[in-house]
Amino acid sequence: MRIAFVGVLSVAMICGSVAHAADAAAAKEKAAICAGCHGDNGISQTENIPSLAGQPDQFLQWQLVFFRGGSRKNEQMQPIAEAIGNEDVRALGAYFAALTPPKATTPDDNPDLSAKGAQAAAGRRCASCHTDSFAGTKAVARLAGQREEYLVKALHDYKSGVRSGGAGAAMTDVAYPLSDEEIEALAHYLAHL
Ligand code: HEC
Ligand code: HEC
Repeated sequence: MRIAFVGVLSVAMICGSVAHAADAAAAKEKAAICAGCHGDNGISQTENIPSLAGQPDQFLQWQLVFFRGGSRKNEQMQPIAEAIGNEDVRALGAYFAALTPPKATTPDDNPDLSAKGAQAAAGRRCASCHTDSFAGTKAVARLAGQREEYLVKALHDYKSGVRSGGAGAAMTDVAYPLSDEEIEALAHYLAHL
């Protein structure tokens, strides 16, 4: 009796992992078109295009849904997101979330600016949502290691209202009082984490 039970259980587990491997392969295939802009393995080499690797699964899914619905506007992303169904949103979210996050490849060329950024991040309590390591969680984005000029762009987009964001519009409230100098310092600090 006991042996039969274990047998059934392990068959179920094997089927589960086969299905999982098939999903992962399908997601990788779909992610191939993303690599043209977002880079190999989700690490962007292109100005104003964010790295996706290691972003929280939920954050990625929400952004795709926002682009698809038009609440987040971008000429390049919108047509792509419009062609993505719900299942692919889930698969792509899981795929990019599982990739190794980006790390700054060049040494910090301006440690003073980073120190100012660290101070601004502490003063503005960025870590209270983005986590102490700035790896993000749930619908809150990873910031650590993201491209510096993209972080500047994103903060300006929230500040000006071009991007409203989810989760109760937290980021528009956060970005509104930031000065241009603070934004530059924050982006520099976060990009070099
Ligand atoms: C033609 C270039 C292009 C392609 C192809 C592309 N993207 Fe993008 N993507 C962008 C740009 C540009 C942005 C930044 C938009 C902005 O500044 O608001 C972006 C932003 C995103 C974001 C938001 C990330 C963040 O940190 O806010 C996600 C998620 C995303 N893309 C997923 C995908 C996925 C998944 C694919 C493939 C199915 C894909 N993209 C294909 C250009 C592209
Ligand atoms: C109250 C919670 C909260 C606080 C505090 C907060 N954030 Fe955010 N942040 C979010 C959420 C939620 C998102 C995703 C919003 C969206 O859907 O566009 C986000 C997104 C971002 C993005 C966009 C990242 C991307 O890849 O597109 C940047 C940049 C950012 N935050 C920087 C900051 C900085 C810098 C601070 C401190 C000055 C800060 N945040 C404080 C909740 C917060």
